[in-house]
Amino acid sequence: MSYNLLKGKKGIIFGALNEQSIAWKVAEKAVEEGATITLSNTPIAVRMGEVSALSEKLNCEVIPADATSVEDLETVFKRSMEIFGGKVDFVLHSIGMSPNVRKRRTYDDLDYDMLDKTLDISAVSFHKMIQVAKKLDAISEYGSILALSYVAAQRTFFGYNDMADAKALLESIARSFGYIYGREHNVRINTISQSPTMTTAGSGVKGMDKLFDFADRMAPLGNASADECADYCIVMFSDLTRKVTMQNLFHDGGFSSVGMSFVQWLPTKKDLMSTKMKMVISFTVNR
Ligand SMILES: NC(=O)c1ccc[n+]([C@@H]2O[C@H](COP(=O)([O-])OP(=O)(O)OC[C@H]3O[C@@H](n4cnc5c(N)ncnc54)[C@H](O)[C@@H]3O)[C@@H](O)[C@H]2O)c1
Repeated sequence: MSYNLLKGKKGIIFGALNEQSIAWKVAEKAVEEGATITLSNTPIAVRMGEVSALSEKLNCEVIPADATSVEDLETVFKRSMEIFGGKVDFVLHSIGMSPNVRKRRTYDDLDYDMLDKTLDISAVSFHKMIQVAKKLDAISEYGSILALSYVAAQRTFFGYNDMADAKALLESIARSFGYIYGREHNVRINTISQSPTMTTAGSGVKGMDKLFDFADRMAPLGNASADECADYCIVMFSDLTRKVTMQNLFHDGGFSSVGMSFVQWLPTKKDLMSTKMKMVISFTVNR
C-alpha cells in the first residue's frame, strides 16, 4: 500500500546488489511512494550482479561507482542531478564490506591493510559521499541522508570483527557531519541500526545463523526484516521526520534495550529437576 510519502522527491540509493539487499527493498518502496531515483553500486557489482534488472523494473539509471573514490562519487551526484533536473532530496548509504571478515581473520589477528579497506568502504565512504554532496551543493533543504548500522557499534558481538569499529565510525560521522550540514543547509543525517538480516553482507558474518536466532528470541517484537527496514528508511526520507538528525535509530524489535529476556530466564534441565523451580514455573504460567 502506498501513502505517497515521497511524491515528487528525488533520491540516490547506493548498495542494491540482489533481491535480499536492504537497498533493493528501499529502492522498490521509494518508487512505490512516488520518488524518482538513481541507483549506484561498484562497477563489478553492476556488471556481474542483478542491479540492472532492478533498474529496468523501476525505470531508473544505474551509475557505477566505487564508494571509496571521490571522483566516482562526484560522477554519481552530478549525473543524478542532471537526470532529476535539480537537487537530491534523499541518499541511502547501504554499503558494507570487510576483507578481514571475508578472509576469516579474527579480531586479534587483523590484517591492517584489510582494516583500512574495511573502514574506507564501510564508514569513510559515508563521509566522502556527504562531503562530495555538500561541495556540489547537491542536497535540497531538509534533505535526508541515511546509512545503515548495527548495534555492534555500541556492544561487542563475537564474530562481527572489525565491522564493529567501522559501524562506530559510521555513526560518529553521522553526528559530526549532521551538525555542520544541519546548521548550514538544514540537511539531516542519521543512521538506522538494523536487526541481523539474511543478505549477502549479513551471511558473511561468522555465526550469522546463531546471531540471527539469538536476536530474534531476545527482541520482544522479533527481528526486523529488510522490508520493514525499508519502511523505516522511507519515513526517514519523508517530510514527517524533518527535525530528526544526528541520531542512531534502532530498528531491531527492541533488542538493544533488553538486558535479560524471558528466553534466558527459562529454566535449564538441571533447574527443572528441583521442586522449588517447578513451583516457580507453575506460579508464573498460572498467572
Ligand atoms: N544484513 C545485516 O545483518 C545487517 C544488519 C545491520 C546493518 N546492515 C548494513 O546494511 C547495509 C547493507 O547491507 P545488506 O545487508 O543489504 O547486504 P548487501 O550485501 O546486499 O549490500 C552491501 C552492498 O555494499 C556494496 N559495496 C561493497 N563495497 C562497495 C564499494 N567499495 N563501493 C560501493 N558499494 C560497495 C555491495 O556491492 C552491496 O551492494 C550495510 O551497511 C550493512 O552493514 C546489515
